[in-house]
Amino acid sequence: MNKPGVVVITGAGGGLGAALANIYAAQGVTLGLVGRDEVKLRRVADDCRAKGANTEILLADVTTPEIEEVLRAFDAAHPIDLLIANAGVTSGISPLDGLEPWDTARRAAETNFMGALRTIGPVAGLMAARGHGQIAGIGSLAGLVPLPFSPAYSASKAGLETYVLALRHLLAPKGVRLSVVILGYVETDMSRRLSGPKPFLITPAEAAMKIRSGLARNKARITHPVVFAVGIRCLNILPEWLVRLILPAFAFTISR
Ligand SMILES: NC(=O)c1ccc[n+]([C@@H]2O[C@H](COP(=O)([O-])OP(=O)(O)OC[C@H]3O[C@@H](n4cnc5c(N)ncnc54)[C@H](OP(=O)(O)O)[C@@H]3O)[C@@H](O)[C@H]2O)c1
Repeated sequence: MNKPGVVVITGAGGGLGAALANIYAAQGVTLGLVGRDEVKLRRVADDCRAKGANTEILLADVTTPEIEEVLRAFDAAHPIDLLIANAGVTSGISPLDGLEPWDTARRAAETNFMGALRTIGPVAGLMAARGHGQIAGIGSLAGLVPLPFSPAYSASKAGLETYVLALRHLLAPKGVRLSVVILGYVETDMSRRLSGPKPFLITPAEAAMKIRSGLARNKARITHPVVFAVGIRCLNILPEWLVRLILPAFAFTISR
């Protein structure tokens, strides 16, 4: 598989997005770094330029229609080989009342699901017209089972996984490859806001390496850690009373 020459990453200003930008940065690569915070994006762009990459900062909020225009304009100048829909926000229950605040729930759905669709949909069409391209959506283990301590996040990632895998079937004959990345805990600002056990925690650089390797093999699902994912999937076939006994062992609350 050829190495991608033009790579676009949303949520590239920090965490996993910045690690992905760094791992793809190389001589001859053009990176489109999407996010809302110019200062953070500039820092990542400087690191990537030091590795020889051309970089372009694309200021956009994935929850607005503007993202579609920004991506179309960038693609017209630099046809995108690889798009990574990484931007995301967390959501979860508050330690104060044990409920999921509505504003964070709505934001998670708008960013992780609709924001990812706004990112992927238009670019998938452009790639299909060209007959090639690759897209990754960053999902989560939280999307594999309905999580009571993170309902909207869990639902948004389940929806994203279904969308990406459905498009994978639809667009394979047109030469567009899609993958969903199903990650456990990664040590970023997002996971630092969660209080609770974080089994199998990995660094953003480790996660980025696993993603690059899975994409190079065009895997439908790029999963880490596999053993945790298998355990979580099994919850879907257990009786409800047993699931209610097991799930609290993994519960977390979120600081706002
Ligand atoms: N950390 C984990 O344990 C974990 C586990 C599984 C999956 N994931 C997924 O991995 C992805 C990256 O998360 P992370 O851990 O790297 O979290 P992070 O450090 O909080 O980074 C999230 C990135 O998304 C950007 N973003 C958020 N809302 C946006 C919007 N509306 N428009 C544009 N950019 C936006 C943020 O940019 P701003 O600076 O503009 O806010 C930030 O750069 C997410 O999809 C997350 O759900 C994370």
